Amino acid sequence: MKLLVINGPNLNMLGIREPQHYGSRTYAQLCSMIEKHCEEKGIEVEIYQSNHEGDLVDKIQWAYENADGIVINPAAYTHTPVALLDALKAVSLPAAEVHISDVDSREDFRRISYVRQACIKTVSGHGFEGYLEAIDTVSDYLKQRTENTNK
Ligand code: DQA
Repeated sequence: MKLLVINGPNLNMLGIREPQHYGSRTYAQLCSMIEKHCEEKGIEVEIYQSNHEGDLVDKIQWAYENADGIVINPAAYTHTPVALLDALKAVSLPAAEVHISDVDSREDFRRISYVRQACIKTVSGHGFEGYLEAIDTVSDYLKQRTENTNK
């Protein structure tokens, strides 16, 4: 099983940006945590980050033939463009949305998520550990789907 973990704009600044919302751990530490978790679970993982919307769309499209599922933190692109939602719908892979901070308890505009409609789960406010929860959700979903098709 191969999962793609996608991170949107400014997440490369973790450890520097707004520690009151995102903590003091760095993006590199987030990647190591994800890689360790996936290795323990026998999941192949590719982690991608971009500050550019079109690059994120390209990467989601790339997943169509190269991954079984997606975990996405679209960051600020959660709340504005429709292109990431359309890309997730286009590839139709099981996807989970993750946010480090609790987006529902912040500014009103952060309550809107376009990608949510194309996701099987949203994990919000669980810090870096939320990524592991989202990975497990997509991985369990894929295992269950395989079991059902083999029945
Ligand atoms: C975020 C929440 C978004 O509202 C924000 O724009 C981000 C990060 C989070 O992980 O909590 O950049 O997605």
